[in-house]
Amino acid sequence: MDHAATGQEALSRIAGADDLDTLESLRVEFLGKQGSISGLLKTLGKLDPEARKVEGPRIHALRESVSEALAARKDALETAALDARLASETIDLSLPAPEAPRGSVHPISQVMDELAEIFADMGFAVATGPEIEDDWHNFTALNMPESHPARAMHDTFYFPDRNEGGREMLLRTHTSPVQIRTMLSQGAPLRVIAPGRVYRSDSDATHTPMFHQIEGLVIDKGIHLGHLKWTLETFLKAYFERDDIVLRLRPSYFPFTEPSIEVDVGYSNEGGRRVVGGSGDAPGHAWMEVLGSGMVNRHVIAAGGLDPDEWQGFAFGTGVDRLAMLKYGMDDLRAFFDGDVRWLSHYGFSALDVPTLSGGVGTPV
Ligand code: PHE
Repeated sequence: MDHAATGQEALSRIAGADDLDTLESLRVEFLGKQGSISGLLKTLGKLDPEARKVEGPRIHALRESVSEALAARKDALETAALDARLASETIDLSLPAPEAPRGSVHPISQVMDELAEIFADMGFAVATGPEIEDDWHNFTALNMPESHPARAMHDTFYFPDRNEGGREMLLRTHTSPVQIRTMLSQGAPLRVIAPGRVYRSDSDATHTPMFHQIEGLVIDKGIHLGHLKWTLETFLKAYFERDDIVLRLRPSYFPFTEPSIEVDVGYSNEGGRRVVGGSGDAPGHAWMEVLGSGMVNRHVIAAGGLDPDEWQGFAFGTGVDRLAMLKYGMDDLRAFFDGDVRWLSHYGFSALDVPTLSGGVGTPV
């Protein structure tokens, strides 16, 4: 058998293949199951041992050289195809660049940054906790026992399964569990704010099932209501960028604070918009509740692993969404979470305007 001639012919046809399809059909023709070289390999079995010793290496060498040639040609054809594409696809760098869509910072994120900036100036660090919480941190440790009505299904989103510790799991209904987590992990003294998402089974024009709160917690020695009042007043003046913010403290009830205080601010109506400032008792003014707060209940301090005879403090919690609406004039809470880009481009903030106290935390819209 003249393998040299078969080899010559195969190699020259491979070299002459000028596209990948032709090359593939050649591969099948020579090396495929029914291919000619595969056929030669099969004949080996029928030869006597002496002849096989001579023929075997020749046929294998032939197969080797043909498959190498196929691979080399494939490589060459692919490179040529890529070169052709690179040569034909050019970019005209002199054309003006298409305008890239520019995103904006959501008012919630903006307000959280503003609050972090204001409280950082008063020595508060930012603390966080999980949005999927257990009932001990969310309720029990905050002095809300098993029978407390806030635990009801209609107020709270529960998960079907308990955690490894056998505790019920739920979407946290407020940022207050971060009080417990921070006391347990950091001890005292401490000064933190905890901004974040919270969930309640509530939905209408002024309530969304998910909304945002910011919690504040100070634990130290000799902390009293005067510290709470000064802190809230300083924060609200810095946030609304007005010196005429007037607070009204009203006695209230929260299981986790004692005494508990609700804080109202005075506002007036200007052109259908609520503008914070002035006493709520002044002509044309009224009071609006903005915060829940109080001195941390001793049971809560104990649940946080601290001795309530040694440590005391205050806590407050407020809605970030509401603070944003009041300062920047949006009137429908639901629009905050619709993701409508027109709303965002109207109310959003430039990512380059980072709120700073010296620059005035509120970038004017
Ligand atoms: N957690 C309370 C709420 O969600 C607010 C609050 C926080 C009140 C801290 C007092 C102290 O309504």
